Amino acid sequence: MPKQLSQILNAYQGEKGTLIPILQEVQGESGYLSEEALSEIAKFLGVSQNEIYGVVTFYAQFRFTPPPEHTIKVCLGTACHVRNGADILDVVERELDIRPGGITKDHKFGLERVACFGCCALAPVMVVDNNVYAKMTVPKAKQILVKYGWEGKGA
Ligand code: FES
Repeated sequence: MPKQLSQILNAYQGEKGTLIPILQEVQGESGYLSEEALSEIAKFLGVSQNEIYGVVTFYAQFRFTPPPEHTIKVCLGTACHVRNGADILDVVERELDIRPGGITKDHKFGLERVACFGCCALAPVMVVDNNVYAKMTVPKAKQILVKYGWEGKGA
C-alpha cells in the first residue's frame, strides 16, 4: 500500500534541503505529483507553491499527470531502424492514435521512442512495461497491443 503523504512529510520533519527527495518519494508512491500534493508540500516546507512548480518543471523526471497503465517503448536505434523499426512505431502510433511522448485518452497506454535498448541482436525491439518483445513485425505489434487490453480504434 502506498505511503500517505503525511507519513512521507513527517519523515522529513526538521531536515533541510528536502524538497527534491520529498518530490521523488511522493512521485515514487503515487506515480505523479498531484496539485493537492504540491500544495501540501509547499505548506510543509513553508515555501510558495510557485517555487515548487519552478523546481518540478525544471526536472524532466517529475510529472503532473498519472502515468499510463502500460508504457510502450519502440526502439529506433540503428539496428532496429534498418530492420524496419519505424514500421513498428508507425503501427503503434496509428492504432493508439498518439505520438511518442503521448498517452491515450483512457490513460491505458503511453508511447515512447527509444534510441537503443542494448539488445540489438533482437531488433526490431519493442518493450511494454518491462517485457521485451524481439524481432517485431507489424502484425505482432498489433497482437501485443491487444494482449495488453487494446480494443482497437473506436472501442
Ligand atoms: S538499436 Fe534497437 S536495441 Fe539497439
